[in-house]
Amino acid sequence: MAKDALLRYDFNGVFTDRIGEEGIKIEDLEELAPRLKTAHERVNLLRSEGKIGFFDLPYDDELVAQVEILAADVVRKFDHFVVIGIGGSALGNIALHSALNHPYYNELPRKERGKRPTMHFPDNIDPDRLAALLDVIDLKKTVFNFISKSGDTAEGMATFLWVRQLLIKKLGAKKARGHFIATTDTERGSLREIALKEGYPMLPIPANVGGRFSVFTAVGLLSAAVSGIDIRALLHGAALANRSFAPSDYRKNPALAGAGIHYLLHTRRGKNIQIMMSYSHRLKDVADWFRQLWAESLGKQKDRQGRDVFVGQTPCKSVGVTDQHSQMQLYMEGPFDKVITLLTVDEFENELKIPKAFPSVDSAGYLGGHTINELFHAEQAASELALAQKGRPVCAIRLPAVTPETVGALLMMLEAQTAYAGELYDINAFDQPGVELGKHFAYGILGRTGFEDKAREFNKAPKPDKSRIICA
Ligand code: PA5
Repeated sequence: MAKDALLRYDFNGVFTDRIGEEGIKIEDLEELAPRLKTAHERVNLLRSEGKIGFFDLPYDDELVAQVEILAADVVRKFDHFVVIGIGGSALGNIALHSALNHPYYNELPRKERGKRPTMHFPDNIDPDRLAALLDVIDLKKTVFNFISKSGDTAEGMATFLWVRQLLIKKLGAKKARGHFIATTDTERGSLREIALKEGYPMLPIPANVGGRFSVFTAVGLLSAAVSGIDIRALLHGAALANRSFAPSDYRKNPALAGAGIHYLLHTRRGKNIQIMMSYSHRLKDVADWFRQLWAESLGKQKDRQGRDVFVGQTPCKSVGVTDQHSQMQLYMEGPFDKVITLLTVDEFENELKIPKAFPSVDSAGYLGGHTINELFHAEQAASELALAQKGRPVCAIRLPAVTPETVGALLMMLEAQTAYAGELYDINAFDQPGVELGKHFAYGILGRTGFEDKAREFNKAPKPDKSRIICA
């Protein structure tokens, strides 16, 4: 085991010799080895053919320089930075912000934030949440980074139109233009069209990188750089992780092993749910980002041959120790349908000593002299053993500390694992046809040209039967 590893993917808790018959056997993995090799080859092929671009993102020095220049300009000119974007155009930004910035970043006095803007990621169009944003930012001092790969997503576009009008009212059309940045596909989409017309600064999203794989593009990098995250270190961590994906032998490639083990637990042991439980509050939004990555990439009706397969493991997010007091009962004694992926951290930035006091009081006396760090680690280790004793598969991704390098490596490793898993299921992990139907109905309802048939279909759908609606 490398001493300076950026992460250690620990699979001890998924094997039968540790947890009994709910686990997998090493022979199961051995049997899967040829398919893992093929999955590795197929992902490499997709990469070399330019069909998937996420592996190559850590090496784009030109983009990094472009982002840093724009970020410095933003920091000079603005007090608030808002991301208009949803799904893959927001979750990576949020994950990086929570992991690598001060946990109360926006509440810090401006000077302690290095005079950097406050950061906001609404990631929703709930009108109350959007309106409330205006209570905590001054529009005149705010820049909006409108991120959309397709450039056409209704939620982002509606938010943009709303904010733009407010800015025009306040500042006039000419000045309002200076409050937008557009991050989008370089070749197509309505956002690109608008940005060119209005003269907004633009950052690119490569055509071969989909939203949920875009955290290392300008999508994730600009907000990170504006808020002071060392994006070079982040990308360096991702690049180092990339090296560990070179072997086609699963024993030496953490992402390939992770893909194989989750595939086996899902398809052979019925673990339909994967809980990512972060024993680091900083990494809790990595679990949220991962939910989208795993769900949207692997939840598919059709395989590559067009056959119905209806695959996918449902990813859930959980926080240790908080959810020991909320979810753990279910994980321990509920149905045998889950595998738990722990995120653990060896060293925290702070060490908090628990003072000795009330020695004769049972539940206070024993804590004195320990640290809160020890308690946190003890609870995590205790939960791992308790889950194992109950026959619950657990794997753990262990980080030495939460740093830009380790977070870069973690996100890249989870992206690679997802790509390999897609090949094992023989599905396309890089599209999302299942979200189109709902979108098209919404377009129809709102009268978008070309979706009249969807409006008709919607209007013909059975109306709610009032007898099935019960009021309180
Ligand atoms: O991963 C994806 O492709 C999606 O979840 C998108 O990120 C999301 O739908 C937002 O799309 P867009 O960036 O095109 O506005």
